[in-house]
Amino acid sequence: MLQRTSGAYSATQSCWSNADTSFTDADWWRQAVIYQIYPRSFKDNNGDGIGDLKGITSKAGYLQALGVDAVWLSPFYPSALKDGGYDVADYRNVDPKIGTLEDFDEMVASLKDVGVRVMVDIVPNHCSDDHEWFQAAVKAGKGSPERERFIFRDGLGENKDQPPTDWECTFGGPAWSPSGANDGQWYYHMFDSSQPDWNWNHPDVREDFLKTLRFWGDRGVSGFRIDVAHALVKDMSEPLPNWADLSKLTYHKLQNGNAGLIHPLMDRDEVHDVYKSWRRVFNEYNPPLMAVAEAWVAPDRQSRYASAEGLGQTFSFDILLCNFNAGEYRKTIEHGLKASEESKSSTTWVLSNHDVIRHATRFGFPDVRNENLPIAVHDYNKLVKAGKAVDVETGLKRAKAATLLILGLPGSTYIYQGEELGLQEVLEIPDAERQDPIFIRTKGGEFGRDGCRVPLPWSAGGAKNFGFGDGQKAHLPQPEWFDVYAVSEEDKDSDSTLNLYRKALKSRRILQGEEKLEWVPGAPEGVLHFKRPNGWEVVLNTTKDAVDLPAGEVVISSTPVTEGKLPAETTVWLRNN
Ligand code: GLC
Ligand code: CA
Repeated sequence: MLQRTSGAYSATQSCWSNADTSFTDADWWRQAVIYQIYPRSFKDNNGDGIGDLKGITSKAGYLQALGVDAVWLSPFYPSALKDGGYDVADYRNVDPKIGTLEDFDEMVASLKDVGVRVMVDIVPNHCSDDHEWFQAAVKAGKGSPERERFIFRDGLGENKDQPPTDWECTFGGPAWSPSGANDGQWYYHMFDSSQPDWNWNHPDVREDFLKTLRFWGDRGVSGFRIDVAHALVKDMSEPLPNWADLSKLTYHKLQNGNAGLIHPLMDRDEVHDVYKSWRRVFNEYNPPLMAVAEAWVAPDRQSRYASAEGLGQTFSFDILLCNFNAGEYRKTIEHGLKASEESKSSTTWVLSNHDVIRHATRFGFPDVRNENLPIAVHDYNKLVKAGKAVDVETGLKRAKAATLLILGLPGSTYIYQGEELGLQEVLEIPDAERQDPIFIRTKGGEFGRDGCRVPLPWSAGGAKNFGFGDGQKAHLPQPEWFDVYAVSEEDKDSDSTLNLYRKALKSRRILQGEEKLEWVPGAPEGVLHFKRPNGWEVVLNTTKDAVDLPAGEVVISSTPVTEGKLPAETTVWLRNN
């Protein structure tokens, strides 16, 4: 009974053993658990203070024991690191600070040996201003074919010294910067000024990305995470709208049908033609490569990005934007399932990633919900600045409950390195050590995202850099309290967050069946109760009081279950067969 086709569970082993490492299953991603690695902060093998590919290889056993199906690596390409690697200077290489292509191949092979697939991040909206083509564009001058690959426009005013529009960039400050060639031209950047946007109406750009996809496909990756997937294709024809009108269109409403305003920069229908051409490349492989879109678009537009003729799957960040609230969760879950029915893809669940405050900390703050967040950190910055304390205990308790909720849902779950340790956001990074362009561009107005990118604590007890690397200091400062969360400590403690994740991932493989969910009627206010196939039931109590525990064998619970009661702010998995 404890069998499934692609692996075998043995009671004598402490971890799931992936007997099948052939990677032939084309649907592997549909209900997979994918672990996001932020390579610079995972494990530093050569002691220079920066995580590296060899560091990842050295932790293959850890990833296997955790029980994940795949890792997704945030960018590891050559980069000046103006935006943590999302400023890519060369899409088909490894940053020498992180390793070599040989290290990459070795990592893919070692992870394959333990049944873990590799996905890489593709950053197609923009490159780094160090990219060869951007450098050539600046040099070749106004009107040159080289400039056509980017979005250059003449500045306004007699001396062309004013930006072409009043648009702001996502990280704060103007979205246009002078070409650097003193010719009155400006280039558009949705993010930092070091990240010029590509012109996706240019055939060279389209061709070059197909080459990049094949490059990594040929190196054995199983799929891609597509950065800012909703923004590639833009309509830059005149007249361009002003920022006041554009900024009214938010995450929940990027197109304003009534006012007839279609966003020139985001979620345009034409972007799906690009992904159709990518799908043809994905299907050259057997099994086909998979891709997941990072598309911060309105819920009713998400399924387009998950179409089987396009990328095939999209992140939904809706559950990440929910408070710890049964009503919000139910609405979001129902929407996610409906969207996946429309697209024929599977749903995705995410609570943390490298762009948002860690969920163990988020849940320790008073509830906030902001409809407009492109990157969901702003409100928490305000809370910290207002001196609001984090209730660490509540935060962790709710985080574990929310994690067991999403791991119990149909579809795939993306987890972010360190969340399996219950790691808290590092809120106390000194200003001088912050790296995020959000912090820099807002002149400290926003902390940005460094707090979730601090290198992982592997060992407690005075180990140098908490075992991250045994040489130079970690590139972002690790706080004293990391000791408590170190892998070495949590490994020993059967009640640790790490062991909860391990057990949940293992049990999930055993319980997993069809992508179906049935709500159990009559759950008390604040409680969610649903059934999955194979007698698996999930119950979440979001209230502050214990409630009666429904019948069934307790498989796992986020806090200990006693005397027929489901404690406050707890999720339990039950088995009834
Ligand atoms: C995405 C990434 C984020 C990055 C931005 C620009 O949102 O997840 O980290 O800063 O794109 O590439
Ligand atoms: Ca290193």
